Amino acid sequence: MTCRLLITGGAGFIGSHTCLVLLAQGHELVIVDNFSNSSPLALQRVQSLAQRNTIQVVEGDVRDADLLDQTFRSCGELDGVIHFAGLKAVGESVANPLLYWDVNVNGSRVLAEVMQRHGCSTLVFSSTATVYGAPITFPLREDSLTDPIHPYAQTKRAVEQMLDALSRNAGWRIASLRYFNPVGAHPSGQIGEDPLGVPNNLFPFITQVAAGRRERLHIFGNDYATPDGTGIRDYLHVMDLAEAHSATLAHLLERPAPVQLTLNIGTGCGRSVLEVIHGFEQATGLSIPYEIVARRPGDVAKLEACPAKAEQLLGWSAQRSLEEMCTDGWAWQQANPMGYRNAP
Ligand code: UFG
Repeated sequence: MTCRLLITGGAGFIGSHTCLVLLAQGHELVIVDNFSNSSPLALQRVQSLAQRNTIQVVEGDVRDADLLDQTFRSCGELDGVIHFAGLKAVGESVANPLLYWDVNVNGSRVLAEVMQRHGCSTLVFSSTATVYGAPITFPLREDSLTDPIHPYAQTKRAVEQMLDALSRNAGWRIASLRYFNPVGAHPSGQIGEDPLGVPNNLFPFITQVAAGRRERLHIFGNDYATPDGTGIRDYLHVMDLAEAHSATLAHLLERPAPVQLTLNIGTGCGRSVLEVIHGFEQATGLSIPYEIVARRPGDVAKLEACPAKAEQLLGWSAQRSLEEMCTDGWAWQQANPMGYRNAP
């Protein structure tokens, strides 16, 4: 079955890879993106990779109800929405919590209101593993305690709760996907992660060090209660995450309303910062100079998914190795040394 879907934030890192998967499956896509942290070029490349020039792009903000109303009116009946648009920098959310409540929570509320007006009630929402806070017992299952410890995670948890209420009380079909740490890029090297300024995240920092854009990686602490002292995260290939979205959507569309799903999307295999560095060095033959510095405020020792529920319900599990995460992320960095900026 092919569908007509609205994708908010479709030009971003996870959004663009998901659009590629959906387009290749034959779905019709309408994208709303304000390009505040993304580039229209990503969508051009998605279309050329999929060999389908059919994406309809609407430049605008999800908090703009008029724009969304107009989009729903003009593009015919929509079968569902994937809502990626939002802000995601933990430090920025601590410095400017109101901005995060506005963009992430108010933006989701406006979107849901417009969907309701237009009779569309199937939604996949981008949530995050940071809603679990600083867990001490593993494996992390979807019913494990949530304890969001910064405004970014608090806004994501608040939207999950708002959507739970919609599925319970208004008969929506909702899935909140709790992403662990998506990394890598499409193997073509044509689309990938393009952080503005100094990368916050480990992987893009490593690829920029490998490319000589930065001198060395700072490892934020080696005194955590982990085997080598560095933080452990559950890194997954962004193409696996993209496929999780299409599997989730198919699951929702096959079922009668109401549906409420919360799913961990990870590999179940946590890796320390040092393991990632060594994995990258092995995959690429390059060396990554690093230095141990103080812990980063707000970081936790370990996050690792139990991905069993996604496998059981969707038949989805992460397929790609750490080596592929590294080689594909490195191919993107080499082909696009400055990301989408200055690209032809
Ligand atoms: N790290 C370094 N040096 C760096 C960057 C990161 O040592 O320059 C370490 C961190 O301390 C942590 C690990 O690498 O131990 C991963 O850090 P990231 O910043 O790549 O990822 P986080 O787990 O902190 O956060 C990411 C996203 C969040 C999301 C979360 C979900 O940035 O948006 O994963 O787990 F919520």
